[in-house]
Amino acid sequence: MNILFICVILGVASCIVAQNPYYYLKQCHKSDPQVNLCLLKSANTLVAYMNRGIPELRLSEPEPLIIDEIGIALGNGPNGYRATFRDIHAYGVSNMTITAVRSDLDTHQFQFTLYIPHISARAKYVSTGVLILVQATGGGDYWGEYDGIRAKVYVKAKPIVKQGRTYLTLQQLKMDFSIKDIKMGVDNVHNGNAVLQAALNLFINTNAQDLLKEMKPDLKKKLMSILSSFMQNMFTNVPYDAWIVEDV
Ligand SMILES: *[C@@H]1O[C@H](CO)[C@@H](O)[C@H](O)[C@H]1NC(C)=O
Repeated sequence: MNILFICVILGVASCIVAQNPYYYLKQCHKSDPQVNLCLLKSANTLVAYMNRGIPELRLSEPEPLIIDEIGIALGNGPNGYRATFRDIHAYGVSNMTITAVRSDLDTHQFQFTLYIPHISARAKYVSTGVLILVQATGGGDYWGEYDGIRAKVYVKAKPIVKQGRTYLTLQQLKMDFSIKDIKMGVDNVHNGNAVLQAALNLFINTNAQDLLKEMKPDLKKKLMSILSSFMQNMFTNVPYDAWIVEDV
């Protein structure tokens, strides 16, 4: 009776929200033979709502993704090349599509496969050492354009009971990714001349995949930490049965 009254006063949209506080997730049933397909739709529903922001989860509009710092080291010895990229702004992650979900609901394990068509990144970098026989100590602006990003995220969780209701808590998260095509380079190289900058850019672009391989451990660590906080925030705020119903 009361809910109906509130609905009439506030209108239909807020009424739906009031009745389902977890409106940003599609609910799935463990007994559904197509449960992975349901989880896939649920994940993409969540992505669509995240792009508008979900105040209940303290998620504001997701662009850009900001990473404070990653490092890269090439070669050993005192003249080995070391670079640090700071204040990395990446644009395009919100265009992600979850393309597959695998799950084992008895053990609360999930694997999400996702695709992002394009990411643009901008950062500041500082470097020391020698690269391609030139003294490359200095700094400047880094830019990267990445096409065809595929990632797999593995999540293992454990149910816990809080105030009589079951929630999940994150136990383990792993991820890996690949990038089909990379274009990147440096601009505004400090103390550099046009020849040095051109040489660096030629080297960077012809070795983009190898450089990515060197950046990957640090980048993965940062991304896993962002993803872990995200998942734990979801698990803390969304009761398990709002997402997956374990019918008896
Ligand atoms: C997302 O994709 C659309 C369509 O391709 C594009 O116009 C838009 O710039 C992309 N968003 C970001 C943040 O890159």
